[in-house]
Amino acid sequence: MKKKTVSIIGTGSYLPERVLTNQELEKMVDTSDEWILTRTGIRERRIAREDQATSDLGAEAARRALADAGLKAEDVDVIICATITPDMGFPNTGCFIQNQIGASNAFCFDVEAACSGFLYALEVGRSLVETGAVKTALVVAAEKISAILDWQDRNTCVLFGDAAGAAVLQARDVEHGIMASTMGSDGSLAELLMLPGGGSRYPASEQTVKDRLHYMKMAGREVFKHAVNNMVQASKDALAKSGLTIDDIRWIIPHQANLRIINAIGERLGAGADKLVVNLDKYGNTSAATIIVALDEIARDGRLKKHDKVLLVAFGGGFTWGAVVVEWDK
Ligand code: UT7
Repeated sequence: MKKKTVSIIGTGSYLPERVLTNQELEKMVDTSDEWILTRTGIRERRIAREDQATSDLGAEAARRALADAGLKAEDVDVIICATITPDMGFPNTGCFIQNQIGASNAFCFDVEAACSGFLYALEVGRSLVETGAVKTALVVAAEKISAILDWQDRNTCVLFGDAAGAAVLQARDVEHGIMASTMGSDGSLAELLMLPGGGSRYPASEQTVKDRLHYMKMAGREVFKHAVNNMVQASKDALAKSGLTIDDIRWIIPHQANLRIINAIGERLGAGADKLVVNLDKYGNTSAATIIVALDEIARDGRLKKHDKVLLVAFGGGFTWGAVVVEWDK
């Protein structure tokens, strides 16, 4: 018998127009196109305009997702925005997006789980729809990472880019939709990936600015190891919960941080390269936005077909991680 499940009924994304190539970065820091490409797989990334804030990117992605779902902004009951680059300390970026798109009936808040942010926000949105607390949830992942990059630090500035994506959730009379999920965190490893300044631990001061504490810091090699292990385990857990095996999965959309990480996950899960969705060559690591931007891309270019089963898997600062199995029913 068919039961109601929560489905993604629309997606959208927005990439800023400005392309920053590896060759341009060669002129900014001591790096090379060859190093970036072979160590990460990234060729170029998008950079938002100075006058664009995260909510501007998120609002555009949200409009596109609502159009895709055939809904109006007034139909949205909740906006959940995943971001580590909020417009301001407060109000939350979800409220700024609400105002821009005219979603006057929604309540709005942010979820901060770094690169796992979209999957965490999806989990919260799914729960709200599943319990009947809301009919329509708009999950947005938006990042202006360029605003928190140290453009003198070659360890980080070559890796990231700006982007936003959005998904609309509703309950549907379908066999499957969002089939299974698993989430985890480990706060003991927070120091390996963080933006220390500007919060209550190190409030903004002349000293924090001098110490460059308002920029992202990352111990790349350490993060790499944990990223692979946790994403493989999360994938296995979500697959077990869904009752599927890797052979049932048509598409794997891993967080786009490093092609070597993506390939290692594919290998350890026993999945062929034809299942792995990769777009980090064009956009770099856009933190919370990577997975929903890639999902929107394969939905729009026709690669994603009705009833395809998709594994979404993320890892990020916190540490945080998560995996979600979805049967596409659009
Ligand atoms: O999104 C959240 C999760 N984040 C991630 O998953 C990122 C995970 N980490 C990574 O993707 C990789 O660790 C990096 C791409 C960040 C670094 O690659 P790596 O192969 O782990 O390199 P490394 O950090 O071990 O550095 C190797 C060398 C070092 O030089 P020495 O010490 O061997 O002389 C670095 O200083 O490469 C040097 N290096 C660079 N050289 C040219 C680091 N960044 C650069 C650069 N250009 N941009």
